[in-house]
Amino acid sequence: MKKIIIAIDGHSSSGKSTMAKDLAKQIGYTYIDSGAMYRALTLYSLQNGIIYGEKINEEKLRLSLPDIKITFQLNAQSRQPETYLNGRNVEKEIRGMEVANWVSAIAAIPYVRQALVAMQQELGKHKGIVMDGRDIATVVFPDAELKIFVTASPEVRARRRLEELIAKGENASYEEVLANVKKRDYMDSTRTEGPLRQADDALILDNSFMTVPEQKAWLITQYNRVVNQ
Ligand code: CDP
Repeated sequence: MKKIIIAIDGHSSSGKSTMAKDLAKQIGYTYIDSGAMYRALTLYSLQNGIIYGEKINEEKLRLSLPDIKITFQLNAQSRQPETYLNGRNVEKEIRGMEVANWVSAIAAIPYVRQALVAMQQELGKHKGIVMDGRDIATVVFPDAELKIFVTASPEVRARRRLEELIAKGENASYEEVLANVKKRDYMDSTRTEGPLRQADDALILDNSFMTVPEQKAWLITQYNRVVNQ
């Protein structure tokens, strides 16, 4: 069967990672969470004085880039890929509110995007990959065989994200999470480099009122349609 690239973009907390991960597992593809790469870089910036007070020292970040290694390793138990920053497992740390509050500002810096896009393209050069993010179908893999754009209302997304945070033992309010979701939507769609937008040839999925199994079934149908063409 032919190997393809599946690019899944969409708004924050739209459930795209869940569907991307499930599909990759089912069809034996590699799953890459491009957001985790921006999050890991943000964590590095918080831990190394690059983000200080309300500011980002962009020059220091640029000079640090060659020293920052972001990799993924499969967790033997969960069979899910986890994010490593310079050899340290940071999967849990990068999902907290502190990183969420800064990640879109870090991701808007043009040289950050150029560096991470190059890494992402390298990861997909042999195809057989499902990658999710904001600019995967438009910038990273404009020739991807299957492009999906996922969305849901901000309120539904904030509710989902809050449930995830609470399940992980983090303290956050619905209002705080909703504000973060809306702020990141705004920053992600209005930045000049690699803004969040739907590729012209992407299929749109609004999953506000869909269950996880329903969305999984929809995606596998799309995959089968493309590989059997
Ligand atoms: O988990 P959630 O869907 O909220 O976000 P994520 O996929 O983990 O991405 C976190 C942030 O990284 C986004 O809000 C974007 O600012 C940035 N990002 C990006 O700019 N480009 C990508 N390809 C992926 C993420």
